[in-house]
Amino acid sequence: MYESLVPQIEGLLNGEPDLIANLANIAAAIKEQFGWFWVGFYLVKGDELVLGPFQGPVACTRIRMGRGVCGTVWQKASTIIVDDVEKFPGHIACSSLSRSEIVVPLISNDQVMGVLDIDSSSLSSFNETDKFYLEKIIGMISL
Ligand code: SME
Repeated sequence: MYESLVPQIEGLLNGEPDLIANLANIAAAIKEQFGWFWVGFYLVKGDELVLGPFQGPVACTRIRMGRGVCGTVWQKASTIIVDDVEKFPGHIACSSLSRSEIVVPLISNDQVMGVLDIDSSSLSSFNETDKFYLEKIIGMISL
């Protein structure tokens, strides 16, 4: 699945410098490929993460540093995989249908600029393969 997705995203990013346009297409391409419940970005604005381009149901708009999975990834600057969101202390439930989650930081010059958040309606949907390829995809974005 990722071996066909990565070249598709490379093609989408090629020649397009606009960050929001690129994040929007990446969210759409990932959602189309896997059909996960929610795929989207939060971007660091001041002392909060603010909702960016996404595919899926409406979501929380602002997340503070250290709050939920997204706020923890911002703080730690490393990817987190959550097999069961009910077992993650402080998880922010934008939807009760979300059961597992992976969040990958967008890093530029050693600073977290935002996160990619993917939610699944099934438990334990994400593993090291997802981490590897999603980090690779995020690394292709010019921030
Ligand atoms: N569950 C996330 C919040 C974002 S939404 O699920 C789209 C969290 O705990 O950070």
